[in-house]
Amino acid sequence: MENFTYYNPTKLIFGKGQLEALPEQVKQYGTKVLLVYGGGSIKRNGIYDEVKNQLSKIDAQVFELPGVEPNPRISTVRKGVEICKEEGIEFLLAVGGGSTIDCTKAIAVGAKTDVDMWDIVTKKETANDALPFGTVLTLSATGSEMNSGSVITNWETNEKHGWGLAPYTYPRFSVLDPTHTFSVPKDQTIYGIVDMMSHVLEHYFHQATNTPIQDRFCESVLITVMETAPKLLEDLENYELRETIMLAGTLALNNMLSIGFRGDWATHNLEHAVSAVHDIPHGGGLAILFPNWMKHVLDEGNVSRFKQLAERVFQVDGQGKSDRDIALEGIVKLREFWNSIGAPSRLSDYDIDETTVELMAEKTVVARPEYGNYKKLTKQDSIEIFRASL
Ligand code: NZQ
Ligand code: ZN
Repeated sequence: MENFTYYNPTKLIFGKGQLEALPEQVKQYGTKVLLVYGGGSIKRNGIYDEVKNQLSKIDAQVFELPGVEPNPRISTVRKGVEICKEEGIEFLLAVGGGSTIDCTKAIAVGAKTDVDMWDIVTKKETANDALPFGTVLTLSATGSEMNSGSVITNWETNEKHGWGLAPYTYPRFSVLDPTHTFSVPKDQTIYGIVDMMSHVLEHYFHQATNTPIQDRFCESVLITVMETAPKLLEDLENYELRETIMLAGTLALNNMLSIGFRGDWATHNLEHAVSAVHDIPHGGGLAILFPNWMKHVLDEGNVSRFKQLAERVFQVDGQGKSDRDIALEGIVKLREFWNSIGAPSRLSDYDIDETTVELMAEKTVVARPEYGNYKKLTKQDSIEIFRASL
């Protein structure tokens, strides 16, 4: 392992009915609240009314920013920042999935600086303050409810960047009630499952030695998600299955699984480039790209972790096979599992063809010429992985 300091200040409030904790939590920070949410799912499933009802218990003055897009945009962040400054907002409450939470993180920082948030997202500028914010999670996927990361898209430049400003961009608290995810449709449930599995896989491919605890943590999350997902997709309102997936999504990216090393993250960089150009769902893009990244980086120097994954998670029987063949069988099994739950497997499923490969590859190296920590990749690697994914 490498030396590490682990710090995660987010208070996790988990379980059925836990929204009751909301008034107590919010009032510590103020009562002028900006409620941030997406395209209306929370109005259809009743969560909006539940939240408003809880906030009324502390006589909160509630302002609203609806309409946060999936793959949230810098233009919406700017709108939120303006409301915060004009109205003197004291606390932000994100109610939704990763997009709503990520947008809220950017608004929280933007509200306390005169620098344009795009300059902070692209790391040209920085900041050292933010409004406090909390979240009510409605979709299990990103882990944004318990990490300090955020991903924002700029449609003027076709760029999508991950950024974060710890400790300011950690939620003060997150309310996770599995019943709030009952209404997540099948396709979004699938994308969320692929996303959380991808987070674990990004951690898993690292170059540190002696990480047996972390390896087994990662493997147990993957195995549990794979056992749970098919049942959940047949029974979307099953509390226990939603509960398991919700906890898995949070653990997959609160960075507890990667203490003591740095994971790879090349596939996320590739996917962000695809969604920056084509606005596709994050989990859909990952399902297409991850197995192709794996095949691309699989060479003799890199086989051992792939082999371990294949044997421990996908139960590949290694008898009489070369390490490389075992590793490849694991990659095939990952693809088969994602296919079996209905995830896409080719960029052409989103009508993406050769025409934009060069442009997407360019986007993978906007921030830096090389990316990925398990194996360094360049623009040429991006082109090859995208071509293999068409
Ligand atoms: O907008 P509304 O109407 O709320 O509908 C959303 C949206 O259409 C819907 N939805 C959410 N909860 C629902 C629901 N529909 C019915 N019932 C519910 N309870 O689902 C759709 C997708 O929502 P979104 O928030 O976009 O999904 P997700 O949580 O997958 O977030 C994706 C974004 O997070 C970024 C991705 O790049 C993408 O921009 N990521 C953020 C990370 C982070 N902050 O740590 C890490 C991830 O790797 C990821 O990159
Ligand atoms: Zn992700």
